[in-house]
Amino acid sequence: MEKNLQAIVEEAKKKLDLLNSKPDWESYKATILGPKGSLTVAAKEIANLPNEEKPKFGKAINQAKNCLEEIFSNSLNKIEEKADLASLGSSIDPTLPPPSNFTGGTHPLTNTRRKIVSIFRKVGFTVAEATEGETEWFCFDALNTPEDHPARDAQDTLFFSPDSKWTNIKRKKEEAFILRTHTSSVQIRSLLKEKPPLRIIAPGRCFRRDTVDATHSANFHQTEGLYVDKNVTIKDLKGVLDFFLKELFGEKVQTRLRPSFFPFTEPSFEVDLKAPNIGKLSDQWIEIMGCGMIDPKVLNLVELNPHDWSGFAFGMGIERIAMLLHGIDDIRHFYNNDLRFLSQFNYSS
Ligand code: DAH
Repeated sequence: MEKNLQAIVEEAKKKLDLLNSKPDWESYKATILGPKGSLTVAAKEIANLPNEEKPKFGKAINQAKNCLEEIFSNSLNKIEEKADLASLGSSIDPTLPPPSNFTGGTHPLTNTRRKIVSIFRKVGFTVAEATEGETEWFCFDALNTPEDHPARDAQDTLFFSPDSKWTNIKRKKEEAFILRTHTSSVQIRSLLKEKPPLRIIAPGRCFRRDTVDATHSANFHQTEGLYVDKNVTIKDLKGVLDFFLKELFGEKVQTRLRPSFFPFTEPSFEVDLKAPNIGKLSDQWIEIMGCGMIDPKVLNLVELNPHDWSGFAFGMGIERIAMLLHGIDDIRHFYNNDLRFLSQFNYSS
C-alpha cells in the first residue's frame, strides 16, 4: 500500500510538468487531493488495516500529502510565472530607462525663498511674517502713501469695504482689509512690535490688479528686508545687498544703485545687476529690486526718533529671482502645476 502512495507522488510529479494553465492544474489537483482524489481514497484504506500497522501507514500518508502539497505549489508558481511573461509579450526592450522615480519635491518658488532667507540669516536677519489680508493703513498710509498718492495707482488690489456684506462686520476704515500689494507692510508691523536694533526678512504672497502675461501675475511673491539701528548708512545697504547677490549669483556679479522713488524711503534706489551666468540676460544690466533709506516720516510714525535711529529697506520679487537663477522666461510656468516643468527643480536646499 505504501508503494501505491509513492506511485501517486511519482505520477503527480510527471503529470504536473506537462500542465500549462491554472484550470488544468486545479482539476488535476482534485483528482489526487480532492474528496474523491486518489490520495484521499488511499488514505481511507487505513480503516481496514490491523491496528499495529495503522501508525506506520498514517505516517506514510502524511509524508505523501506534504510532498504532494509542495510539488503542487511549486508547479502553480511556475504556471503563473509563465502566464505573466506571456502577458508581457515578446517585445520587452531591456534598453529602456527604468520608470521615473520622481517622488515629488518642493516648488521652485519655495526653493528660491529658502535660498534667499538662508543667505540673509548668515548676516543676522530673522524671518518676520504677516497675513496676506492686510489693512489699507499698514499697506499704504503707514508707508507714507496717503489715499490720494499717485504711487497707489501701480498697486491696485481687492478692497473689502469697511461695511463689507461678505463679512457682516462693521469696521473702521483703518481696519478694512485689502489683499496686500507688497510685503512692505511687514516693516511697520515689525517696528510696532519690536524695538530696534532690528533686522528682518519677510517673504510672502502679494496680489495686484495686474493683467497676466509672461512677466506679470495678479498673484506673486516678494521678500521684504528691513534693518534699523544706530548710524545705518547707504554703505551698509550696499554692503548687505552686494553680499546677498554675490551669494546668489556668484562672485563675478556686479551691482549698481540707480536713483528711484518709493514713498517710504528717502533716498530710494533700484538695484541693477550684471552677471556672466544668467543665460540670455548675461552681461547686461538688469533691474532686480527696490531699496532705500527709511524715510524719517515712517520712523516718526512708529515713534522712533530719526535723529537716534536710521535704517534701510529693500523689496524683491521671488519669481524674478527664480526666473534669473534658472533661465525661466515666463512667470506663468510657476502656477500651471505642470510636472514636466516642476520636476526639473526637484532639489532640496
Ligand atoms: N514695495 C516695493 C514694491 O512692491 C518694493 C520696495 C521698494 C520695497 C523699496 C522696499 C523698498 O522696502 O525700500 O514695488
